[in-house]
Amino acid sequence: MKVLLVNGSPNKNGCTNEALLEISKTLKKNDIDSEIFWIGNKPISGCLGCSKCFETKRCIIDDKVNEFLEKAEGTDGFIFGTPVHYAGPSSFITSFMDRAFYGKPKIFKGKPAACITSCRRAGGLSAFDRLNKYFTYSCMPIISSNYWNGVFGSTKEEVREDKEGLQTMRILANNMAWILKCIELGKENGIEFPQTEKKVFTNFHS
Ligand SMILES: Cc1cc2nc3c(=O)[nH]c(=O)nc-3n(C[C@H](O)[C@H](O)[C@H](O)COP(=O)(O)O)c2cc1C
Repeated sequence: MKVLLVNGSPNKNGCTNEALLEISKTLKKNDIDSEIFWIGNKPISGCLGCSKCFETKRCIIDDKVNEFLEKAEGTDGFIFGTPVHYAGPSSFITSFMDRAFYGKPKIFKGKPAACITSCRRAGGLSAFDRLNKYFTYSCMPIISSNYWNGVFGSTKEEVREDKEGLQTMRILANNMAWILKCIELGKENGIEFPQTEKKVFTNFHS
């Protein structure tokens, strides 16, 4: 079983990555594989709303998003990490997730997910709330910890000093591992994710 850990920071080895490393180590202790997927520091386009992905299951802009989608299909769980930028998630990660999730519910449905935030001082909670919206739209069980998943720091060294934040990451990883094992055991015993009805689209008028 494998979890993709998405680093939504333009800093490859910064604070967000440090938190994801703590998660990765803990998943390993639970015999769960993981991979940190860095979305990079090149500009990431937002969604163009062309809806071509409903047919192709890939984005017409062929960049990191499609690279991620290839991996996502064979992945059992997801943790998306973001630095806090102006009390919200980074624009990198929201552009990335808009395009990764739109029109591709089958890739994510039923797979457990969580997000984590990294900030110097404040805004972690609004970033956390924002990213959870992708999972609740996509029939993904959200994995929790014993606090709202975040670490504090401006450098990775400061993150290492955030003992409670790192513990939150470890508990989250243990809970993710537990759910993944429960889901696998369930499948072995014939319990599959429920069939979902075809989505009804209304616009409040019709
Ligand atoms: C454009 C920008 C905006 C930021 N806004 C906030 C903020 O609103 N609140 C905060 O606590 N830190 C803010 N920070 C600091 C980062 O969130 C913090 O240093 C984070 O841990 C960096 O993670 P990274 O090393 O993975 O990029 C901001 C940083 C940048 C570059």
